[in-house]
Amino acid sequence: MKKWQAEAPSNIALIKYMGKISSETNQPTNSSISLTLSQLKTFVEIEETASGKDTWEALKGEQYHPIQLGEKAQTRYLDFFSRLKDEFSIRGNFIVRSASNFPADCGIASSASSFAALTQVSYDCGRDSGCKELDLNQLSQVSRQGSGSSCRSFFAPWGLWTTEGECKSVDLPYNSENLLHHVAIVSDEKKTVSSSEAHLRVTSSELFLGRPERAHRRLEALMSSLQSENWESAYQICWQEFWDMHALFETSHPHFGYMNAGSIEAIQLGKSQWDNEGRGPIITMDAGPNVHFIYRKQDQDLFDGLKKSLK
Ligand code: DP6
Repeated sequence: MKKWQAEAPSNIALIKYMGKISSETNQPTNSSISLTLSQLKTFVEIEETASGKDTWEALKGEQYHPIQLGEKAQTRYLDFFSRLKDEFSIRGNFIVRSASNFPADCGIASSASSFAALTQVSYDCGRDSGCKELDLNQLSQVSRQGSGSSCRSFFAPWGLWTTEGECKSVDLPYNSENLLHHVAIVSDEKKTVSSSEAHLRVTSSELFLGRPERAHRRLEALMSSLQSENWESAYQICWQEFWDMHALFETSHPHFGYMNAGSIEAIQLGKSQWDNEGRGPIITMDAGPNVHFIYRKQDQDLFDGLKKSLK
């Protein structure tokens, strides 16, 4: 039976996609930008089967971390695969196998990389039987419909996703060659509110008023700080941004949140480097309790120091 394989990297947003105009198509209320985490990838394989239905199983191999998708997650993944089959005129049924080279509980969202990889592998399969050709932006916008943040994973070193429905790569002086990324795992418990649910709830917060404008202003300011290599200004903007998003969570109706004592401790560690040394990491958080740190390679000493303190 024929097989197709593809892979896609994860990404971490600095200006967040939070809030949707349409849940059906994952149209965002604001533009977002992320750093592509090129080393952290999801691999997907699809193999034709005569079983009469599509099924999911874990991709096995030494390079992959063991993964078990719950029933809901499997249904979401296979439902999207079914949409992709329609989109790319793919006939027949398949065994969909996926796994990542990073652990599922390491605080890095795997939905971006896994939906991007699924879109890519389906497109590769469709192309073999003559489906229409798409450019990378068009392909990313198909992927977006499975999980919004996945569209940015098609681009590197930075993925910019605009409200005009376009995704593209941005070249900035800082990139994966001269940046270091670390995520502090303060909890590996399953989230009680998924990010898809968070997108819906935040619109009920009073603070959501003006959120698209704030995000837009910050995006412009961040791009210009990164362009001019003003790292401290980039840190300040990203600091505002993740607190803004977490404040939206805490002021929604009904309110919810992800930060815990460990998150605060990790944030304070990163912040104390700025206070004591006048340099430090960009600190950010996704819709979860874990804290992401991005350092310039020239601040490797601080990066090593933080990792030591976190232990
Ligand atoms: C907080 O892409 O996971 O990570 O489109 O419903 O699948 P769906 O949501 P998802 O949202 C990610 C939200 C975020 C911020 C970001 O990555 O921009």
